Amino acid sequence: MPTILDVASIKRDFPIFDEKMRGGRRLVFLDSGATSQKPIAVLDAERDFYSRRNAAVHRGSYFLAEEASAAFEGARQIVANFLEVRSDEVIFTKSATESLNALAVSFERTKGVLNIGPGDEIVVSELEHHANLLPWQQLAKRTGAVLKWFGMNPDGSLDLSSIGSIITPRCKVVAITHQSNVLGSVPDLAPIIAAAHAVGAVVVLDGCQSVPHQPVSVEDLDVDFLVFSGHKALGPTGIGILWGRYELLEQMEPFLYGGSMIETVTMTDSTWAAVPKRFEAGVPNMAQAVGLAAGLTYLKGVGLANIHQHEMELTKKTLDGLLSIDGVKVIGPQDTKNRGGVISFTIDQLHPHDVGQVLDQYGVAVRTGHHCAWPLIRKLGLMGTTRASFYLYNDDSDVDVLLESVVAARDYFRKR
Ligand code: ALA
Repeated sequence: MPTILDVASIKRDFPIFDEKMRGGRRLVFLDSGATSQKPIAVLDAERDFYSRRNAAVHRGSYFLAEEASAAFEGARQIVANFLEVRSDEVIFTKSATESLNALAVSFERTKGVLNIGPGDEIVVSELEHHANLLPWQQLAKRTGAVLKWFGMNPDGSLDLSSIGSIITPRCKVVAITHQSNVLGSVPDLAPIIAAAHAVGAVVVLDGCQSVPHQPVSVEDLDVDFLVFSGHKALGPTGIGILWGRYELLEQMEPFLYGGSMIETVTMTDSTWAAVPKRFEAGVPNMAQAVGLAAGLTYLKGVGLANIHQHEMELTKKTLDGLLSIDGVKVIGPQDTKNRGGVISFTIDQLHPHDVGQVLDQYGVAVRTGHHCAWPLIRKLGLMGTTRASFYLYNDDSDVDVLLESVVAARDYFRKR
């Protein structure tokens, strides 16, 4: 099948594909929804930082400290260009999970319209992974706010029939995924965002599964905050992004206290630095920020629209293949409408962990289980699924091996 990407050449940029898997098999990596592999450009960027520029940023007045600060702030600018936002709206955290927790803690501490208190309402959906559910669930418990959610339809879309009773004038925050990490489904966000803004609520978009895979415009989506993980976007672990509109960030209290986030400090009180430093206490993840910038630069070079188109071609081939295998069920959207390159499936009477083990014999790396989205899996009445997720380094032959290994898993356990 012709594809828009030169996958053979892309693969050469990722050293991990030279590794042999169990039984000497080649790696068929279909778990990019959990974490992405890293190109040489990212590995080199981190090594270069530690080899040539390593010093604590924003502290020293010596040459190396200035070099380190320039590299770190340069990375911030690259993230800002990638998202097409102001660089002082980009906050480095350690992960998307930390970004979401940071927002919840900051809203709790902030006075005024962003504050969450008793009787206020927070809205999420049944599609959320734990990282975009627990911070809000626990915030509601701590403050006496009410947690509400959009239910999920069996096809992975959201039930928007009672939008008016879910997003009411008491609603302060709507925190919602851009794409389900389990089903690949993309919720119809426009009516949700419009309803949230109509009652003065802010919208937090979880872009973990979308930002690395397709062009995402915070302006077009009209969201107020966006989070994503570095390690799912070719970057290192230990780095996440929190983007927010400047006029909102400016009103917000810090979520972590310590060095570099202050304006003045006495023994009894402190005032805060301007955004974004206010939200970056301590020596930040400098090499990781530089590595993430290299990852985003690589993605931009390939083109996010090209990556999305490529993944959707692989998704179509996989869906057609899985749906034609007797005993296999695709969970969530059955076609390529309103979805990304993440596919969950089950094989009749097989536990997903058993499926995963057979697939591993073929060099196929997939995620199995509840995918850190237990309420969603429970709603579907399942014990878990097997999930294949695509990226720019996958090709047609990966889909062929997946389908072959799925048939083998079904037949192996049927015989027993
Ligand atoms: N990172 C988790 C995943 O694998 C949530 O989808």
